[in-house]
Amino acid sequence: MKLQIIVGSTRPNRVSLNVAKWVAAAAKELPETTVEVVDLATYDLPFLDEPMSPQLNSNRNPNPNAKKFLNKVAEGDAYILVTPEYNRSYSAVLKNALDYIDFQLEKKPVALVAHGSTGGAQAVAHLRGVLAGLKSFTTPTATFLIGRAGELINDSGELNEEARSNPFSPQVALKATLEELKWYSDTLSAARAR
Ligand SMILES: Cc1cc2nc3c(=O)[nH]c(=O)nc-3n(C[C@H](O)[C@H](O)[C@H](O)COP(=O)(O)O)c2cc1C
Repeated sequence: MKLQIIVGSTRPNRVSLNVAKWVAAAAKELPETTVEVVDLATYDLPFLDEPMSPQLNSNRNPNPNAKKFLNKVAEGDAYILVTPEYNRSYSAVLKNALDYIDFQLEKKPVALVAHGSTGGAQAVAHLRGVLAGLKSFTTPTATFLIGRAGELINDSGELNEEARSNPFSPQVALKATLEELKWYSDTLSAARAR
């Protein structure tokens, strides 16, 4: 599985990057998996600047930053979106990036890892509808980090000991999310190859 972990915040001091590092470390334990962190901050996407809906434009000519982003995303066969919750939804920067996508996610699975004061359930609920619009599948299980994720996970992507030893540890939830994503990725990759 070629897994891409997309960082859904570009803010200075963002927590999402550390969450993505935590996810990446766990994902590297999966069999036959390569892991890449795709950081939206490095693509500097302008607000969608195209004359037509990307999915309807057969003569599409995206701006150079978008082209680079789309070429990268096309390489993946499974994705994890690390999303903060902002004002009861996911981030605007992530929505803008998703709006650039035409068919790069089609028939591919996407897992969601959310964080926020209340855990990000509303971000996840909203993303499920949006990702269906991109013809991708969201996996049933998501991972939620409730409270201050910045205090749970350090700059190296390590979950603190207290959170690790909790019987309801996010580490356990993440493992389940990753294993499920691998199953969907293997299943859908085989089906796409037929
Ligand atoms: C503009 C803004 C709005 C927020 N709204 C919510 C919210 O509605 N629900 C929630 O659980 N957390 C909310 N939070 C807290 C963030 O989800 C939390 O700080 C998260 O870790 C931010 O991710 P980031 O540091 O990667 O940008 C909000 C934070 C910001 C900056």
